[in-house]
Amino acid sequence: MKHFAVIGNPIVHSLSPAMYAKVFCDFGLNADHQALQVRHDSLSELMLTMRNGDIDGLNVTIPYKQAVIQFLDEIDEYAKDIGAVNCISAKNGKLKGYNTDWIGFIQSLKQLNIINIPNRHFVVVGAGGAASAVVYGLVQKKAKSIFIINRTETKAISLKNRFADADIQVMQWENIPNNILNSAIIVNGTSVGMSPNINQCPVPKDYIKSGQIAVDIIYSPLWTQFRKLYSEIGGKSISGMPMLVLQGLAAMDIWYDKPLSKQINVLDLIHYLEKKL
Ligand code: ATR
Repeated sequence: MKHFAVIGNPIVHSLSPAMYAKVFCDFGLNADHQALQVRHDSLSELMLTMRNGDIDGLNVTIPYKQAVIQFLDEIDEYAKDIGAVNCISAKNGKLKGYNTDWIGFIQSLKQLNIINIPNRHFVVVGAGGAASAVVYGLVQKKAKSIFIINRTETKAISLKNRFADADIQVMQWENIPNNILNSAIIVNGTSVGMSPNINQCPVPKDYIKSGQIAVDIIYSPLWTQFRKLYSEIGGKSISGMPMLVLQGLAAMDIWYDKPLSKQINVLDLIHYLEKKL
């Protein structure tokens, strides 16, 4: 039997165990998945447990996506470029870190029929680990331009500087040209609006336009204040649930070293998890 887990702090509300329980059951895989709330000082012990073969794979979430890196034998090129690991695989006593957040993000855009990334302007709010994966994905897919807006501008500047060849600008809302702002894809890459702070919105109301498309990385609540504001003016939006599911399925493919996710009806899985909220 294989054992998997998601680690973070706090982690009680994670939907990952429910997602994998369903997928493992559907595939008839002899495996389990649990949520482990770990303290920073017990990370090294957990990694030893993994090395010993007692855990086969991990999802890593807030606040450990950077902290786990020091315990790994290897990290893949994507995780290295992004500077964060959200998936670990243990094979023959060796630990390898990956980043599947960026894959989950890019694939989730397809759920919204955003397929022409090279023709679109993106505004990414945030400059932490999640926003880095978003920006990385957009750079990989050659977005026409990327504007990064963050409360702490220095963090936005260092994120921009990681991608020297891409068209990225660090901005304030008021400086984005109107013709771009009116039709941009606005991505919330922060935790602003996440439960329990459900009345917060990462974008000032004046900059929300019906011609934009809103992409949230938050899935709890599904209808964040950010998404509600778009809905009120007839704008399109997507929650963070597709990204959660798609990054998780990409992690499973890594753990099993097989493209299992190709056989999964992603929309069904998203709807199944939405009902669990
Ligand atoms: P994660 O790994 O989830 O991205 P993180 O690295 O701690 O978490 O990043 C959180 C992001 O949300 C940051 O961009 C943070 O802004 P700062 O860089 O200024 O800290 C942003 N964020 C969190 N709370 C915020 C708030 N109340 N207002 C604005 N931005 C906030």
